[in-house]
Amino acid sequence: MSERPTIEFIDLKAQRQHIGQAMEDAILKVVHDGNYILGSQVGEFEAGLAAFCGAKHAIGVANGTDALILVLEALGIGPGDAVICPSFTFAATAEVVAWMGATPVFAEIDEATYNIDPKGLAAALDTARKHGLKPRALITVDLFGQACDYDPIEAFCKHNDLVLIADSAQGYGARYKGRVAGGIGDFATTSFFPAKPLGCYGDGGAILTNSDAHAELLRSLRFHGKGSYKYDNIRVGVNSRLDTIQAAVLIEKLKVFAEEIAKRQLVAQRYTEALQGLVRTPDVMPDCVSTWAQYTIRVDAERRDAFQDALKAKGVPTTVYYPKPLHQQTAYKHFPVAGNGLPISERVAREVVSLPMHPYLDEATQDYIIAAVCEVLAPARESAVV
Ligand SMILES: Cc1ncc(COP(=O)(O)O)c(C=O)c1O
Repeated sequence: MSERPTIEFIDLKAQRQHIGQAMEDAILKVVHDGNYILGSQVGEFEAGLAAFCGAKHAIGVANGTDALILVLEALGIGPGDAVICPSFTFAATAEVVAWMGATPVFAEIDEATYNIDPKGLAAALDTARKHGLKPRALITVDLFGQACDYDPIEAFCKHNDLVLIADSAQGYGARYKGRVAGGIGDFATTSFFPAKPLGCYGDGGAILTNSDAHAELLRSLRFHGKGSYKYDNIRVGVNSRLDTIQAAVLIEKLKVFAEEIAKRQLVAQRYTEALQGLVRTPDVMPDCVSTWAQYTIRVDAERRDAFQDALKAKGVPTTVYYPKPLHQQTAYKHFPVAGNGLPISERVAREVVSLPMHPYLDEATQDYIIAAVCEVLAPARESAVV
């Protein structure tokens, strides 16, 4: 193997160097101007974010979790309501449903994409009804950067009068058959957590929608239920605004976002070409482009810890997203599960492991990582492929 480079799982320093002085200037401008709350950069960024994905409105909020909560609040979802969502996801997806007093109903994922399986939605609806709940919405998750299979999902929601909320925290900007995630769904939400493909330098999030009425409502809800001005409180709301400094950071990051998505394709392509056949590499649906929030492979469940340890010893960081599906977590195991359980979610959670992925991963470092994975898997090559 070649000389050991220093490998970051996600290299935000390299991105900052690439953007250069423009980032520092943008931040300092906010500091000097002093419009820290809802300064002009927030509106400018919201317009850019909406345009990028083809949505009519973008509403910047404090984080991706609040983005989901505010949508549920705007829809009046609460006790007695069911919201269908996947179990193999970050906790926020279901947490927000429970936080509103509604009931998450966990549905199965597709083994190839790890996204909610459109074929499992009918069972989830059935389960919700059997529990005496009123099915109100479906929260999809564009996991690891790949958009869900939205054509059948949209048809299902329309047929069953469900609001479609796309949690695009990881997949904002992904392409699905000519459409861009963020612009898909009745509402889409995203997170600007620093490690996300489009991240800021702290917490941040946004809601995207084509509905004028809901956009106005959401702008009010994020600002203490304001009406015509700041001290006109026409409804109960919260404080969940996107900071001006974060908006200034995001304006600069959005300028390089398309280029970064393209660079991530090259990294993913090289990984896949080298590792295919050795481990299970990610599947991207035809006519779709992932943002590669994660590059996730699968190894034998019994060997995953050893695989990670061996890579760590070679200086290659890996992470498991997510080791336990939500329906098996203490906080969520009492909520209904669709059909006869979620065996795919449970199996996948035992086998997934994500490799370093970011747009500035140079070829030499990629080659080092590939060689390390090959070496670690070599003794048990046959049994490692799942
Ligand atoms: C799928 C998903 N939904 C929601 C969130 C929540 O976003 P935030 O951390 O900005 O609240 C995340 C962030 O990790 C996420 O990955």
